[in-house]
Amino acid sequence: MSWAVRYKPTSLDGLILHPAVRDELEIYYKLPVEQTPNLLFYGQPGRGKTAVARIFSEREGYGAREHTDFSQPENQGRNKIKQIISGIAQPTSLRDAFFPPPPKRHLFILDEFHIIEDKGIQQQFNHALENNQKHHYIFLTNRQSLLAPNFQDRLNPINFSLDDKELAQAQLKKQIPVVSRKILEFFNVETKFTDSEFLEIYKRKTESFRDYVRALEIAHYKKLSV
Ligand SMILES: Nc1ncnc2c1ncn2[C@@H]1O[C@H](COP(=O)(O)OP(=O)(O)OP(=O)(O)O)[C@@H](O)[C@H]1O
Ligand SMILES: [Mg+2]
Repeated sequence: MSWAVRYKPTSLDGLILHPAVRDELEIYYKLPVEQTPNLLFYGQPGRGKTAVARIFSEREGYGAREHTDFSQPENQGRNKIKQIISGIAQPTSLRDAFFPPPPKRHLFILDEFHIIEDKGIQQQFNHALENNQKHHYIFLTNRQSLLAPNFQDRLNPINFSLDDKELAQAQLKKQIPVVSRKILEFFNVETKFTDSEFLEIYKRKTESFRDYVRALEIAHYKKLSV
């Protein structure tokens, strides 16, 4: 499997993030699990939404964690979706009764949520989002426009998108060599790149960072073969 699939950073330091987004994520990350608001990560593919959700799920204090990816074949079809949602979007949860007192919060990551285009189904979460303190929801989507406004309004949104101007910013560029070295470390390879070599790869691959990690892997093989 390619590096872009296998690279799973364990902290926010392992990702290239807009400084403002990073600061905001850091605040939510550091809050006690019980106080963290329900979140919406949105923005272009390959910007780290799923990676950050995974990092959040490692936080101390959750009673249980569930990651549902609606792009997976087993989570598709109207009936299947209905069944999943009715099990998750409850104002109070029966399952929480099974955790030892005081029951801990249950994390639900709902990935590729735009696949649920039916706004009526999205709105089934509205009640739980305001009343179920024992559930913590993180929704992920790359098509924010498909979400019902009154559902979205109950979530704290974080925009992972980056435009060309932002990608050219010095603060962001500074992260490229730092994170790239972390990626090489993650794969335990000792290939040496200069900062400007990293930036050269990055310049050509800014569509998504998934694309960047892929290009870095190729650059690593190229270096090995000379
Ligand atoms: N901000 C980032 N910094 C460094 N690498 C990243 C970043 N975002 C993504 N990647 C790389 O791309 C891969 C895919 O990222 P991730 O699955 O988190 O993207 P996503 O935003 O959830 O995309 P999608 O909308 O397609 O689901 C990661 O495993 C990692 O290799
Ligand atoms: Mg994702």
